[in-house]
Amino acid sequence: MIEEVTAALVANPCGRYADLTVGEGGHARGILEAAPEGRLMGLDRDAEAVAAARAALAGFGERALVERGDFAGAAERLAERGWRDLDGVLLDLGLRSGALDDPARGFSYRLDGPLDMRFDPSRGETAAELLARIDGETLAGLLAEGTTRADPWRIAAGILSWRERRALARTSDLVACLRARLGRRATPKLLGSVFAALRMAVNLEMEALDRVLETIPAALKPGGVLCVISYQSQEDRRVKRLGRRAGPEPPPGDWRMEPLWKGPRRPAPEEARRNPRARSARLRALRRILVRPPS
Ligand SMILES: C[S@@+](CC[C@H](N)C(=O)[O-])C[C@H]1O[C@@H](n2cnc3c(N)ncnc32)[C@H](O)[C@@H]1O
Repeated sequence: MIEEVTAALVANPCGRYADLTVGEGGHARGILEAAPEGRLMGLDRDAEAVAAARAALAGFGERALVERGDFAGAAERLAERGWRDLDGVLLDLGLRSGALDDPARGFSYRLDGPLDMRFDPSRGETAAELLARIDGETLAGLLAEGTTRADPWRIAAGILSWRERRALARTSDLVACLRARLGRRATPKLLGSVFAALRMAVNLEMEALDRVLETIPAALKPGGVLCVISYQSQEDRRVKRLGRRAGPEPPPGDWRMEPLWKGPRRPAPEEARRNPRARSARLRALRRILVRPPS
């Protein structure tokens, strides 16, 4: 959805932009090409992504700056660097395909590897550590919060009983546990949704998203645009809520976020065919509007 993102985001060829999930730099490159005199700050929690984005954007010289960090603290970090009144900010949530396809990162149910799932492997709890300590109710809750349609209680009970007798240290252990519990209901879709729900819990993804949606609009100039690509319904719900006017109009001098179009945009059928991971993508764009005093 690079063309749609750049069309919504880049109105000023000399503007300042932030890509807070820079990944391997694909969207960042599109933004820098669309804003030939603009500058971009890229951020990612994953050191491998930061290295890949720096290499991909090296040709843009000082116009591109890439740092490692969590987007939850992006508003403060941008302000510390003097990056205020931004023209556009992009969040492309979730996982980059390079990390999904690396067995050592433990994100994929299709590849055997350590059950890690951390975006930043230098800190925090791995998925194996989380599963070793979590109680059944909390586990069922996080599976229910995720995209899992099968009975989350049944899956949670299966995991708890498995861990009493056997290891849950590798992705293949978790797959074996789910297959033992669910039999033919352990479809690729179900396995994928359990892995995604665990990844979201390990990385506290909803907490980080809530924080950035609350703080980043203030980093935009009036008229600046926030684009968010989400892959899970609970992510998209939060973005939608940001653009919804609830209650009275904010006081004069305050601001609100106004959607650029109604509903989320989905990838074109051709893109979905080329890139199966893009199928669940939903793009929303919101403009920061200053509320003016009546004249
Ligand atoms: C779908 S990929 C982005 C791909 C990117 N748009 C591109 O064109 O290559 C999402 C990226 O967000 C990063 N990420 C996820 N949560 C993050 C967070 N809280 N803070 C910073 N980066 C995060 C992941 O490490 C991953 O590289």
